[in-house]
Amino acid sequence: MENRQTVALIKGDGIGVDVSNATVRIVNAALEKAGAPQLTFEEINAGATCFAETGHDIAPDGEDRAGAADAIFLGAIGLPSIRHEDGTEISPHLRLRDRFGLYAGVRPVKAYPNAPQRLADPRAASIDMVILRESTEGLFYSAAAHGRSQIIGDSEVRDTLRITRTTTEKLHRFAFRLAQKRKARGAPGCVTCVDKANVFASMAFFRKIYDEIAPEFPNIDRAYAYVDAQALNLIRAPWEADVLVMENMFGDILSDLAGGLVGGMGMAACAEIGDNHGLFQPAHGSAPDIMGQDKANPLAAILSGALLLDYLAEKSDVESFAKAGQWIEHAVDAGFEANLLRPMEFGGDMGTDAVTTQLLSLIAADAAPKSA
Ligand code: IPM
Ligand code: MG
Repeated sequence: MENRQTVALIKGDGIGVDVSNATVRIVNAALEKAGAPQLTFEEINAGATCFAETGHDIAPDGEDRAGAADAIFLGAIGLPSIRHEDGTEISPHLRLRDRFGLYAGVRPVKAYPNAPQRLADPRAASIDMVILRESTEGLFYSAAAHGRSQIIGDSEVRDTLRITRTTTEKLHRFAFRLAQKRKARGAPGCVTCVDKANVFASMAFFRKIYDEIAPEFPNIDRAYAYVDAQALNLIRAPWEADVLVMENMFGDILSDLAGGLVGGMGMAACAEIGDNHGLFQPAHGSAPDIMGQDKANPLAAILSGALLLDYLAEKSDVESFAKAGQWIEHAVDAGFEANLLRPMEFGGDMGTDAVTTQLLSLIAADAAPKSA
């Protein structure tokens, strides 16, 4: 097999290891099922444990190797017990987002049957939205590279919220294109600009650029929400949301809130995409309280693996990668539908391994994905 695609695999800390292992098993099975070429996974040591043991938050050649791979998969990074002197946690993946320009943080939020529905309203069963979180600047600008915060002795600390035209134009175009793709599959076709343009000049600028880009996509509806009102709307009528585009910190917060609406962080998949690189990770943390106990819900990671396959299909023009991604999504859909997926996170009886094994047999079963 010449020219195999490579995936840089950063398992990281805590349950990052458990859910990464589960994802590799599922991705390999889906590739085989779809008749797609296998991938080469190249492991890179990074995270809080790596930092404690070696003094580096990522292996010295790790960033370059991640950049040279066709895609990056990351489990979870950070342990509350291991911190920098300023009190922040070890987070080399913020630097990867910065270095590789991974501006488009795609965070799908979808309700599955038999998974917990946290809202009593029956319309919550139809929640299907994407939070598009800008992932390189905004209020994370000074966090992206350690040392960018302005620390004035022990009396004051300043972090910078940065919005640039270049990144914001790309972000909004990405949002509208995503809404177009979703509309083709039956979504309403609407991009909501979530900001705080009533108060911050940076946010008024973010909205101004949204208004400049929107006319390029006349078939997609426009909507606006201040972030505080959007938080309310996500509880009041989340089934109305389609694509919500926003600054980094707002997206960090609202994507957890939205993840909670459809069960919990164990369902929160994420793709971080730039012009030349893509990193895929569940949006949850390392959950050290349950690490190594076979309790973690691997579905957020596995669904991120499906997003990775979709990305590789587009990047390399190998259609069978997309088919493999669809096999995974179909297996998760079918598994919930038949109540065969009962993660412990939702009070169910299935640990990481049981969920993974069940998915493997769903993929092996003969039913083809609807769209394959
Ligand atoms: C996320 C996480 C990370 C972030 C943390 C672990 C640095 O919360 O991906 O949402 O804030 O971006
Ligand atoms: Mg977060």
